[in-house]
Amino acid sequence: MRLLAFLSLLALVLQETGTASLPRKERKRREEQMPREGDSFEVLPLRNDVLNPDNYGEVIDLSNYEELTDYGDQLPEVKMTSLAPATSISPAKSTTAPGTPSSNPTMTRPTTAGLLLSSQPNHEDIPPLPRRTAYLYARFNRISRIRAEDFKGLTKLKRIDLSNNLISSIDNDAFRLLHALQDLILPENQLEALPVLPSGIEFLDVRLNRLQSSGIQPAAFRAMEKLQFLYLSDNLLDSIPGPLPLSLRSVHLQNNLIETMQRDVFCDPEEHKHTRRQLEDIRLDGNPINLSLFPSAYFCLPRLPIGRFT
Ligand SMILES: *[C@@H]1O[C@H](CO)[C@@H](O)[C@H](O)[C@H]1NC(C)=O
Repeated sequence: MRLLAFLSLLALVLQETGTASLPRKERKRREEQMPREGDSFEVLPLRNDVLNPDNYGEVIDLSNYEELTDYGDQLPEVKMTSLAPATSISPAKSTTAPGTPSSNPTMTRPTTAGLLLSSQPNHEDIPPLPRRTAYLYARFNRISRIRAEDFKGLTKLKRIDLSNNLISSIDNDAFRLLHALQDLILPENQLEALPVLPSGIEFLDVRLNRLQSSGIQPAAFRAMEKLQFLYLSDNLLDSIPGPLPLSLRSVHLQNNLIETMQRDVFCDPEEHKHTRRQLEDIRLDGNPINLSLFPSAYFCLPRLPIGRFT
């Protein structure tokens, strides 16, 4: 385990020095090809354009895809091998019988080949990251807590993807100063509360957690004037977290415990001319709320929320 951790760090360091030693011209060219603010943005799946060889160096992938390719007990002796370069040494697969020459078990990951870091142990913490990291993927690990210092000084971070971990707490300041952060992706964790969020976020995904309304600061999203996609489905929320910024295009709150809503959560009743043409996609199905009880709450929307109207 220690060896693997060391290998992983070594890989990080090698990778960093590898790109740092590129000729300056080449580095500049790579930087110029990074996606920029204002680039067009699809709902799901997320932009994949970052995963091209020109961005290698800003993308750090610590994800552990073993679960996805684990054949379990059905094929106990079969090691997945591949003619392609090894992309991952599998720590949990070190079950080679004693005396058998170690054959360096390898697994091919279901991601763009060759771009991503190799030698991933199953992380329980965020390891030290290169300062230039812009896109961090650490899916399918066992990370349980995010500390204030984990992302300290990583001012280039644009995307953090911690899907499918065991995160139950995030220090309040962990993301606060990440002014470049656009996509914060945290589904399938155990969060009951959200930390302070930087105002530049465009895409926030906290589906499939244990979020309670008391775990969201009052007016948490008001200052997030670039927020377009707010995905909070499958949590324990009992109210719609407002006010919602005008930039919002999509808010998913299905499968929560919402029973009622503020009449002005979507539309300002004093402002009868105002519209929210952007907000086309509101999901409130799978909640106990009877949407027919709030007929004056939707007048500014281009279409009615999805949910129970009877
Ligand atoms: C929902 O509200 C409408 C309007 O007040 C009412 O007619 C309907 O019976 C309600 N449905 C339920 C299941 O309470």
